[in-house]
Amino acid sequence: MNDIKYRRRLKKSVKRKLIIFIVFLVLFIGAGIGIKKYYDYINSYPYKLEKVGYNEKEIKVLTSKLKDEELDKILKMKYNKLVDDFITQKYFIFENLKEYISYYTDNSDLSKKDVVALVNVKGNKDQYESTKATDTGKKNLLLVNKHNYLTKEYKPDKLVDVSVKYCYGQNKISEEVYNKYISMYNAAKEEGLYLIITSAYREYEFQETLWKKYAEQQGEEWADSVAARPGYSEHQSGLALDIVTYKSNMNDFENTKEFKWLQENAHKYGFILRYPKGKEKLTGYNYESWHYRYVGVETATKIKKLGITFDEYYAYYLK
Ligand code: DAL
Ligand code: ZN
Repeated sequence: MNDIKYRRRLKKSVKRKLIIFIVFLVLFIGAGIGIKKYYDYINSYPYKLEKVGYNEKEIKVLTSKLKDEELDKILKMKYNKLVDDFITQKYFIFENLKEYISYYTDNSDLSKKDVVALVNVKGNKDQYESTKATDTGKKNLLLVNKHNYLTKEYKPDKLVDVSVKYCYGQNKISEEVYNKYISMYNAAKEEGLYLIITSAYREYEFQETLWKKYAEQQGEEWADSVAARPGYSEHQSGLALDIVTYKSNMNDFENTKEFKWLQENAHKYGFILRYPKGKEKLTGYNYESWHYRYVGVETATKIKKLGITFDEYYAYYLK
């Protein structure tokens, strides 16, 4: 009898200990999960960004648009309400963020969209400042502007003579560009329109003479608005053509049917109008209705659709 009682008591005691053990185990696991959650939270970007001063809405934008390494850089900066505004711009480039903020702070009459476009193409800097040899490995998509130059020695491969049928004077051009130009010329001709090339490939030395002549005639500032300094001309790349028609010169080309046709069709042959009206601050040059740059059909079509300059396109999509 005593033995049965003893066993029952033992069973009860084991049961109680087991329950206590389970309760402790559950509490322990619960606490562990809680501590882990808290640890994860204080190490999360939302928590850290909030500590820097960003509000819930801004944090949502920052964490959805930026990569971890970019967020780490934001955390090293002081809170700035402009960060969010710039991040949501279509052509925002993270590495330019500090420059957007400082340029906008000094030029708050400009829109943020314009500041992004200008900074992306170095339009916030003086022309011919912070220049570098351009990446010629980009081939048909290489960039030549007032900040990216071709070396004195650079000469495109596969230069071919342009037939006198297509141009005034003697000209050379890259073979691929020539073939596409002929297709474009023929398509225009079928509609009773006549294109003629006035300038194509230009050597470094030729550009030097040209720029100096303009500078002597009307001063350096004017020369810089209409011609590139040697090394900085797209004509040296063999990818640019000045196109007019027989009855017009360069300055009135924009009033011709041929110009209108090029506006609608040049992209189908891989050409873009390189220095459009109203984009002078971005390209660095006065409007040139006659200067066309070959970039290939795909890129020319994209650029036309986006309505941006090649400088902007390069900064955002190609750099
Ligand atoms: N007229 C263009 C900008 C050039 O000289 O290349
Ligand atoms: Zn030109």
